[in-house]
Amino acid sequence: MGTTDAGLWCVVPAAGRGSRFGGEVPKQYLPLHGKPLLLQTLDRLAAHPQIAGLMVPLAADDRLWPGISTCAGKPVATTTGGANRSDSVLAGLRALRGKIRDGAFVLVHDAARPCVLEQDIAWLIELGIPAGGALLAAPLRDTLKRADGSNRVDVTEPRQGRWRALTPQLFRLGDLVSALESAQAAGIEATDESMAMERMGHRPLLVEGAESNIKVTTPADLALAEFILARQQACA
Ligand code: CTP
Ligand code: MG
Repeated sequence: MGTTDAGLWCVVPAAGRGSRFGGEVPKQYLPLHGKPLLLQTLDRLAAHPQIAGLMVPLAADDRLWPGISTCAGKPVATTTGGANRSDSVLAGLRALRGKIRDGAFVLVHDAARPCVLEQDIAWLIELGIPAGGALLAAPLRDTLKRADGSNRVDVTEPRQGRWRALTPQLFRLGDLVSALESAQAAGIEATDESMAMERMGHRPLLVEGAESNIKVTTPADLALAEFILARQQACA
């Protein structure tokens, strides 16, 4: 059976503290274009025809989760995340294990990326399944410098062939659990799913995605996300 026909589950890690953003309220609950940032992201994912359900790892002390169990008619489940992003993703994947088979593909998408485009998710799935695993990414556009200890330029690095990893990322559930567990056991913090899979010998496909799929990290990013969402709505 085609995994695509049944739809894919998406793990949406939302258990971060937003320490670079600052403030009392974690960034995923700040208002963005009329609703909390996290709900913008979940609505966008749930509206996608190829997404079957959402698994949301939340911080153990989260008091702001609205308690929804569906979104655009798709099931929404939650679980308790961990200290690092990869711990939260792993918790979400483990919670999916009873629901879907290990060979099924799953998506992982940062709660903090509310502007992801429907078309990019579709491309990722279409190209990523035959490739055995993939991630949205953007080729580097700026000139890249390597600094010494006092912020003097040591060398200009070649930009060619360098990409910034975005999300969603697409892998098989069982393989991704094993890869994240292996990284954890080795004391390596995988900052994205691809990194954990690369350690296991996989060569994930880079699928070029829109630069507008920003991760809200600072207050300036939130303002930019507001602008991007307003533009996307105006152009829809
Ligand atoms: N995340 C998570 N569990 C963690 C850390 C991060 O689920 N222990 C999630 C965040 O909620 C976010 C995504 O992973 O949706 C990307 O992380 P990042 O942008 O770094 O968010 P924070 O970790 O919250 O921010 P900061 O690093 O500034 O503290
Ligand atoms: Mg973080």
